[in-house]
Amino acid sequence: MADSIVVTRTVPAPVLDRLRSAGNLWVWPHDRDIDLDVLRRRLVDAAGLYCMLADPVDAGLLDVAPKLRAVSTMAVGVDNIDLEACRLRGIAVGHTPDVLTDSTADMAWTLLMASSRRLAEGVAYVRAGSWDRWDPGTLLGHDITGSTLGVIGMGRIGQAVARRATGFDMPIIYASRSPVQEIEDEVGAEYVGLVELFARSDHVVVCVPLTDETEGLIGPEALRLMKPTANLVNVSRGPVVDSDALVEALSTGQIRCAGLDVTDPEPIPPDHPLVHLPNCTVVPHVGSATERTRLAMADLAADNLIASLAGKPMPRPVV
Ligand code: GLV
Ligand code: GLV
Repeated sequence: MADSIVVTRTVPAPVLDRLRSAGNLWVWPHDRDIDLDVLRRRLVDAAGLYCMLADPVDAGLLDVAPKLRAVSTMAVGVDNIDLEACRLRGIAVGHTPDVLTDSTADMAWTLLMASSRRLAEGVAYVRAGSWDRWDPGTLLGHDITGSTLGVIGMGRIGQAVARRATGFDMPIIYASRSPVQEIEDEVGAEYVGLVELFARSDHVVVCVPLTDETEGLIGPEALRLMKPTANLVNVSRGPVVDSDALVEALSTGQIRCAGLDVTDPEPIPPDHPLVHLPNCTVVPHVGSATERTRLAMADLAADNLIASLAGKPMPRPVV
């Protein structure tokens, strides 16, 4: 009997066709997170799970899926998946690094610049009809060129963020689990501790995966150490930044501004203070959201699942 495969969100038709050739496909047909009761029922017979970053793949879920051999997420981040539980059950896990590095680094820069130069406030000002004169003091922002970039987490995305800074004549400092010689040679990035990074950076860009160690990394203490003119950009996962502490820091002028692609909670409720603070620019977790990147992610996630169900190594395994 052919393997059965569960897909938790509609992906492009050519990708579904490829998955269909590897097994009996069932696809959650709605444009919202899959209902977990439905997912549990569908997993009873499933050999493969093709999931999204918001699907919680935990031990309880795996327990109802005795035939599951492969989990493939259409994301680079795997904080939604209990990797140890997968390992114990011999379930392979794959993800989609590299193909989204550039678009995510582009989004980090989009937010860095939008936040520093008050883009959202400018758009709102024009829409509100307030642009009735030119004024030398309107919407003064903060310099990007020549300012200091601090990158936290020098993985693939952190490196791509750092590379982009060379066009802006920026000194680059970074904190990471270990130094990355390649990026030091390439762009002159300087490896520093977190305390020094917070004290020296004009822009702090967070590029770490969410783990027990990084959860709440940017909390009251970190925000206190930053410059009052600092711009905080988060393109990693919401819980790496303590939302309450950030609201406090942005509303009391402890830091100047922030640009967030990810939030905690996520999605962020429309009445949350971070959504309404004028010095906070929030976009809805769209770091990898370009047509080309999303197709490449969908394809790579399919490659991982198809290879694994055929008994071969995944091209991009996590476990
Ligand atoms: C997006 O956030 C991803 O992990 O791919
Ligand atoms: C994250 O894991 C990255 O690609 O930087």
